[in-house]
Amino acid sequence: MPLCAIAYVSQAKADLPVERMHALVDDAARFNKMAGVTGVLLHDGQRFVQYIEGPPDGIDSVYERIVRAGSHHDLMELARGHLGQRQFPYWSMRVLPVEVSLLRQLAAGDWAGFARTLDGDAGGPTAIDLLAQIVQPSL
Ligand SMILES: Cc1cc2nc3c(=O)[nH]c(=O)nc-3n(C[C@H](O)[C@H](O)[C@H](O)COP(=O)(O)O)c2cc1C
Repeated sequence: MPLCAIAYVSQAKADLPVERMHALVDDAARFNKMAGVTGVLLHDGQRFVQYIEGPPDGIDSVYERIVRAGSHHDLMELARGHLGQRQFPYWSMRVLPVEVSLLRQLAAGDWAGFARTLDGDAGGPTAIDLLAQIVQPSL
């Protein structure tokens, strides 16, 4: 089955109530499960970085909901493309709080090809390497 992925950064609506945040995440996880989409959502209190992966039709319908959502604005796509295999197969939507500096690093990171480097690669960590470290710090 072909797989694709999208990563974006967006600005959270000012004073987004925590209940609305919980509701949108529950709603997102439910929809993603149906659509076969997995991914990670990072939030630093002001901005979001989200990475989603799955079948092209599932990604299209999820991304349409994301673009329409009023809880954020100024969405900027960081990368879009095809994948050989899922990077985060276990989470229909994993939400994690991160420091402002880490979110900034991800938003400015190297998303090319959604590639991962091998340990010791001189080029430094890619954005997917950073995401993997945030999601699974012990690995
Ligand atoms: C930062 C952010 C991430 C979202 N991620 C997903 C997602 O992964 N899957 C999905 O189906 N909907 C996603 N949504 C849409 C929400 O689940 C929800 O439908 C929407 O936020 C509700 O509309 P509102 O923001 O206008 O209140 C996302 C919305 C936002 C703001």
